[in-house]
Amino acid sequence: MNSMLKFITCGSVDDGKSTLIGHMLYDAKLIFADQEKALLLDSRVGSRNGMIDYSLLLDGLMSEREQGITIDVAYRFFTTDKRSFIVADTPGHEEYTRNMAVGASFADLAVILVDATKGVLIQTKRHTRICALMGIRHIVFAVNKMDIIEYDKRRFEEIELQIKKLALEFDFQSMYIIPVSATEGDMLTDSSTNMSWFKGETLLSYLENVDVTEKIDENSGFYMPVQRVCRPDRTFRGFQGQIESGKISVGDEIGVLPSGENAKIASLLAGDKEVDKASRGQAVTICLDREVDVSRGCVLYKDVSLAVGSLFDVSLLWMDDDKLIEGKNYYLKLGTKIVPATVMKIKYKIDVNSGEHIPAEGIFKNEIARCEISTGAPIVFDKFKTNKELGSFILVDRVTNMTSACGIVRHKLRRDDNIIAYDMDITRESRSAQMGQQPFTLWFTGLSGSGKSTIANAVEKRLFSMNKYTMSLDGDNIRKGLNKNLGFKEKDRIENIRRIAEVSKLMNDAGLIVLTSFISPYAADRENAKAIIGNDNFYEIYISTSLEECERRDVKGLYKKARNGEIPNFTGVSSEYEIPDAPALVIDTESIDVDKACEMIIDLIKDKL
Ligand code: ADX
Repeated sequence: MNSMLKFITCGSVDDGKSTLIGHMLYDAKLIFADQEKALLLDSRVGSRNGMIDYSLLLDGLMSEREQGITIDVAYRFFTTDKRSFIVADTPGHEEYTRNMAVGASFADLAVILVDATKGVLIQTKRHTRICALMGIRHIVFAVNKMDIIEYDKRRFEEIELQIKKLALEFDFQSMYIIPVSATEGDMLTDSSTNMSWFKGETLLSYLENVDVTEKIDENSGFYMPVQRVCRPDRTFRGFQGQIESGKISVGDEIGVLPSGENAKIASLLAGDKEVDKASRGQAVTICLDREVDVSRGCVLYKDVSLAVGSLFDVSLLWMDDDKLIEGKNYYLKLGTKIVPATVMKIKYKIDVNSGEHIPAEGIFKNEIARCEISTGAPIVFDKFKTNKELGSFILVDRVTNMTSACGIVRHKLRRDDNIIAYDMDITRESRSAQMGQQPFTLWFTGLSGSGKSTIANAVEKRLFSMNKYTMSLDGDNIRKGLNKNLGFKEKDRIENIRRIAEVSKLMNDAGLIVLTSFISPYAADRENAKAIIGNDNFYEIYISTSLEECERRDVKGLYKKARNGEIPNFTGVSSEYEIPDAPALVIDTESIDVDKACEMIIDLIKDKL
């Protein structure tokens, strides 16, 4: 029997994906008797005038039936004499590109439906592009509704040509173009008398026989991303994960990335059994003969060249309702590693229709773009072309935890290799020891006029009188110098906060206690600032004075101007402020005066003073 085939079906809303698979299962006698009875009953009230509606077999979800569209990825399992299959029926509605990508990430092959009455549509091109992006190398184009065009050979050949032209752009390992009728059953499990001109295999027979095994060289090197460090007691330290490539034996010398250290395999466990060797696909625990720096997300390897880096050129499919703009921060998950990451640059977006590269400031939902990404820590990766596992990633929103994008690594940016950090002998620790203080950052956030600068100023005076070395960074002041070139559009504010976070970190490195007063309206940016400055040194202090009160005070007269339409993108008026979820402290200046606020802050940081 052939290995299991995991495939997806994709097509536009009315292309008949569910009918196609439903009819194929029915004809291949792969449904149960009671299912068949239910199908006959249901079909009587359906839309096919009493004829069997095969799509009902697959459309498990009520809402699908109601809306007439498939709204989630529905997985089905079936087996013939020759092969087992899992099929994900993915939605055709444009809104649901995310599910299509989810389905595609699991599949070896895609059946893309093309409506014979319409030919190749934008949707067909989008789906083909997404499949290629998600690493599907085997494609079947099923040209459906041949019955409606009276099994016209010429029309099929026209569409076949359109498809071949489209496929030229991609590097598919196999492609099959087949005319079918999902409702009538032509070419699904039996060859069709209506299309005796078509000499190819039926759809089912093709799916049973197609070879999708990755052409992996038996002698290719070993690597395993570490999923977990197992440490039940002081004596045992094992690294657990699944071997993605190659084989290993006890006694082998292996390398660890990103640290670059080497060690020998002292023992190997497969499950709870000691073994001498293990190979690709096995889940194992590896114990080494010496102490090395290994944590989740590290990669153990032998005889392969994997790269370590923090600046990448990537292709991604944007799936978030919020648009992507340069400078935004996410968590990037690649292999077993999760790191903070910034989309530094949008190089261009790709027209799904023509494949053309279009310059873009923002990337909207369902668009495909080429970008540059920088990660907060070096990660181990490979090019997607050679390695699906270590070459693909997702971006996760740092606040909502939703998947915002999926993508693949094209290559590392050359400048990444050419910038090599110098290890200074005088460190943050030596500097702060000499100054006799612990450095950290108090990050004040809140609306304009909420009282951030006033309170920061008072706290700094207190610290100063305690002989502490401090530095205050204030929005209006910094925007007259370092950040003179930045305005108040989202992209500029993101960059404003990124620079302030980096400067705060440098000043902490210099041993100073830093107080920053910036509106910093976006939660993701404050999260990023925390990641840059370091969890243990970052105190988020939310000055929660209400918009009404800030506007009543209007110390700088800016709210009035903003209400008159003289200042665009004014926070609270025409630009959003995202309230912190879990700040270290909340201070409402309507009920707390400056002295009290100072006390609260000094109390918060007393362990560091
Ligand atoms: S942030 O949003 O990027 O963090 P930042 O704190 O640096 O803003 O600057 C805010 C200050 O700039 C405000 O206190 C106000 O004095 C001034 N300002 C000028 N235009 C705007 C605007 N459109 N929105 C908010 N503040 C503005």
